[in-house]
Amino acid sequence: MRFGERLRELRKKKGLGLKTLSKAVRVDHSYLSRIEGGHVQPSEQIIRRLAQALDHDEAEFMVLADRIPPTWRSAIKKAPHEATFLIRESLEEYGIGTVGKKIRSDGDNAAGVPTRSAISAKSRRKSPDGISTNDLLLSAHLGTNDELFPKILSLYVAPGSTVADVTYGKGVFWKQVPKTLYRVVATDIETGIDCRSLPYEDASVNCVVLDPPYMHTPGGTAHVGHQNYENYYKNNSARNGSDKKYHEAVLDVYFTAGSEAWRVLKSEGIFIVKCADEVCANQQRLTHVELINEYTKKGFVMEDLFVLVRQNRPGVSRVIKQVHARKNHSYFLVLRKSSGKSRWLGPRNSSAGR
Ligand SMILES: C[S@@+](CC[C@H](N)C(=O)[O-])C[C@H]1O[C@@H](n2cnc3c(N)ncnc32)[C@H](O)[C@@H]1O
Repeated sequence: MRFGERLRELRKKKGLGLKTLSKAVRVDHSYLSRIEGGHVQPSEQIIRRLAQALDHDEAEFMVLADRIPPTWRSAIKKAPHEATFLIRESLEEYGIGTVGKKIRSDGDNAAGVPTRSAISAKSRRKSPDGISTNDLLLSAHLGTNDELFPKILSLYVAPGSTVADVTYGKGVFWKQVPKTLYRVVATDIETGIDCRSLPYEDASVNCVVLDPPYMHTPGGTAHVGHQNYENYYKNNSARNGSDKKYHEAVLDVYFTAGSEAWRVLKSEGIFIVKCADEVCANQQRLTHVELINEYTKKGFVMEDLFVLVRQNRPGVSRVIKQVHARKNHSYFLVLRKSSGKSRWLGPRNSSAGR
């Protein structure tokens, strides 16, 4: 329905003449008649006055007049992906989208709303009217886990998805993620669930998050003096019952948990892995490379790699002579449980999206 038609309908319902309403909104009655006829587009200010005069929903008027209601604007800009997802999902839920409607051959349904398949087909093309923005997520980030993690989620995991965080710890990753956005299933060895043996059905979750201890344990007393550090990373538990030692024990947990993630993930599901390289027995161990090699051998497709650089200088104890660079960065790896030759088109177009 056009804005003008709706306006006329509501005006008549209220028993108001053109002149009475035009006086109330302080415009000429011939101008109001042209609005109703669809010959002119009124300004936001006039739309607002019309909504007030007719005691009607201003947002609905704005939408009919092809405008984004001002009260929605900042929310949409803050979370454009989530907002469009929720609008699309709601339209489908009410049957205005794909559900239960006859689909026309041009990819729009009877209500003229583009269908999910039409949207994904369109979004595959380079869109000349795509929004240009500087607000892109970059691959390197200076800051903290809780700042970067929500951004990775918003790029790779559709709202409403079930996310199993299998090394939840203190839940730092989730500090800045709105609680209602995902169904988070949080487990940790501390609460009795080993990430290498999860209590989930095969192919049942959309995303697995893994962040186990990433350093070896030189003799079981590492970081004992650094209470907060050890409290968070639990590196002294890195052996984790593995019969392997040191760096191999670290890898063992990551590798076995990777196989378990593969089992519980739905096809096209996303595996987010936090890791850091380490120097072990004076040997450079590029954990992120070792993990990527192993996970891609299993069938995961590497979709992204984020480098997180810490803001403060890392603490150093007992350095006699420096022989390797002290590490002040870590990684988030993003992998996809590929079902074949499919390419990543974004969470909205992923079959594991929900
Ligand atoms: C670096 S912390 C995780 C921090 C967490 N990502 C957060 O945001 O707070 C490592 C966590 O892995 C857990 N952990 C160690 N071995 C595990 C295992 N085999 N299964 C599940 N959790 C394990 C530890 O208890 C610890 O909470």
